Amino acid sequence: MTEPATRFVPPHPPRSTGPVPVWRGFVGERARTAVYGWSELAFTLPYMRRKVFGYNVHIPLTPEAVGRVLLDNAANYVKPDIVKTLLKPTIGRGLLSSDGDLWREQRKIVAANFAPGAVDALIPVFAAAAKRAAKDWAAERRDMAAEATATTMRIIADALFAGDGRLTTQAAMDHIAAALEGVSEQRLQALLGLPLMPWSLRGRRARRSRDFLRGTLAAVVRDRLPGGGPDDFLGRLIRALHERFETGEAFELAVDNAATFYLAGHETTANAITWTLFMLSEQPDLQDEVAVEAREALAAGEDDTDLPERLPLLRRVIEESMRLCPPVPRFDRQAVAADRLGEAEVGPGDIISIWPWLIHRHKALWDDPDGFDADRFKPETNRHRFQYLPFGGGPRLCVGARFAMAEALTVLAHWLVRWRFAPTPGRDVRLSGMVTLRPKGGLPLVLSPR
Ligand code: HEM
Repeated sequence: MTEPATRFVPPHPPRSTGPVPVWRGFVGERARTAVYGWSELAFTLPYMRRKVFGYNVHIPLTPEAVGRVLLDNAANYVKPDIVKTLLKPTIGRGLLSSDGDLWREQRKIVAANFAPGAVDALIPVFAAAAKRAAKDWAAERRDMAAEATATTMRIIADALFAGDGRLTTQAAMDHIAAALEGVSEQRLQALLGLPLMPWSLRGRRARRSRDFLRGTLAAVVRDRLPGGGPDDFLGRLIRALHERFETGEAFELAVDNAATFYLAGHETTANAITWTLFMLSEQPDLQDEVAVEAREALAAGEDDTDLPERLPLLRRVIEESMRLCPPVPRFDRQAVAADRLGEAEVGPGDIISIWPWLIHRHKALWDDPDGFDADRFKPETNRHRFQYLPFGGGPRLCVGARFAMAEALTVLAHWLVRWRFAPTPGRDVRLSGMVTLRPKGGLPLVLSPR
């Protein structure tokens, strides 16, 4: 790749120079968008600590301390009670929101579906959804965030739920967006130890949406009973759960995991695809290079299981896009027993917030941290394994990481080979989201055929 004269620096929220008081996290943009309201200190210090409604919150910013939480002493760090309270109405005690033996049992049940061979066999499913989405595009302006979401939604439905049509409707898409919108209000209630009651119109809409999603997934599972139906992800999940748990619990856990995989499995990847398109739209020469690579890779066999291996530049571009805009900008743990993170004393019950958003742009870890440079991910470059964690790390590493990468590579290759994507003149892109990071108001790009 030729070195650009100046690196592209995607816009990021303003940063103050001094510390930001905790209350600022609960008003204005910071209350709605996780990555707002950070000062320069957060990108410079090795560690920060806050007191939030009686909780000690530790923010480790060195890869070593992050590695201790996620891997070396992982048994001491569980999903926080407050996160479980927030997630319970939607994804119950599924893989993402359980701990201990229940987590281990569920991880074992689903693991085979995400093994390399199983994921590679899905390349034709990813390709079909990408082509189907693009078939009606014209030289026009399109919201590529919406296109990416519709496409990943179809993929998750086709790959895991036998293409169940109830999971790919516009209504389902709208309800997911509304449910995510409600998280900031619920977060405050959960922190205050209050029952999760909707206060605002946005909160009421979020609750209705959550109920819709949960109801839809319960119906999808119920229609598969008693035997679990076809030999797909959902069928195997239902059968495995019924072998290990009594009927009522097996049903609940099947719905919990159906909801977990439906939600965790598509919105995140949609954001990775969207941010990659944004970065490429701003760097037309790089976009041309990626398109050439994609043309050659697809010409050698569109549905080949090793297609992702033939897209090394595109992979680096996606990786760099997820460094700058991690689809999951933060995730949390709670300490079971006392521990030490570097110089910091952690007490039982303390919260540890892991922030890919901060670590991925930390000045002690990266040169020109805010600038785009896909070469950072060339195979010969060295990095601490906990310096870059878009998929988390340790035993709870995203189970769908390989799936997501293969999916993003395949979808983007098909789109970039046919279309050129340019920014909408005069339109600024802003970051938004409390749980996942997306462009505020979508990503309208101007398409022209290649
Ligand atoms: C670019 C796309 C994706 C990103 C950035 C992403 C990110 C993450 C992260 C950061 C975690 C760890 C959270 C923690 O440790 O608290 C996680 C866990 C998880 N992800 Fe993903 N994910 C993506 C795609 C997927 C896909 C495609 C699936 C399923 C098809 C999936 C399913 C899950 C599940 C079930 C967990 C919980 C795993 C466990 O706790 O054992 N994700 N993901």
